[in-house]
Amino acid sequence: MRISPKMKKAINDQIAMEYGASSTYMAMASWCEVTGYHGGASYFYAQSTEERDHMLKFVKYLNDIGATATIPTVKAPASSYKSLEGLIKTALKNEQAVTKAIHKIVDLAHKEKDHCSYAFLEWFVNEQVQEETKFEDLLQKFDLIGRDKLAINEIDKILASQAGATDSAA
Ligand code: FEO
Repeated sequence: MRISPKMKKAINDQIAMEYGASSTYMAMASWCEVTGYHGGASYFYAQSTEERDHMLKFVKYLNDIGATATIPTVKAPASSYKSLEGLIKTALKNEQAVTKAIHKIVDLAHKEKDHCSYAFLEWFVNEQVQEETKFEDLLQKFDLIGRDKLAINEIDKILASQAGATDSAA
């Protein structure tokens, strides 16, 4: 099976993006851990694994169709955050950027009549809806509960309860 050089590059770029997301969420988890947000730490360690699984899906797709994946190096992520809310806002921004990138590859697949890549990408389109929604929901909680000490504890509890619910995409 063949895909265009443009599609191969787009998917390799996406591998780098997912790898970057995994690395960023690992750094977020670590910050949560040392700051005392243990629920947040569990949540973002799981999120980091999930992004690695996304990366792996793209790597395997390219290799399976004989296009050969490129494993990139990633830029070191930010290692500190002003607040848990700020961290979650950054996570949402990252996911919005991933959604945009996925949609661009879908557009390319459509334009090139690359049905194989188009079908493969469908899973990611749906996944991104969930990814954005979960961070939007968490940010909404900050508004609903308020910003006092109790509220921050509540958010950490919410993250702890959702840490096991992040789906593994391997
Ligand atoms: Fe794999 Fe959350 O983007």
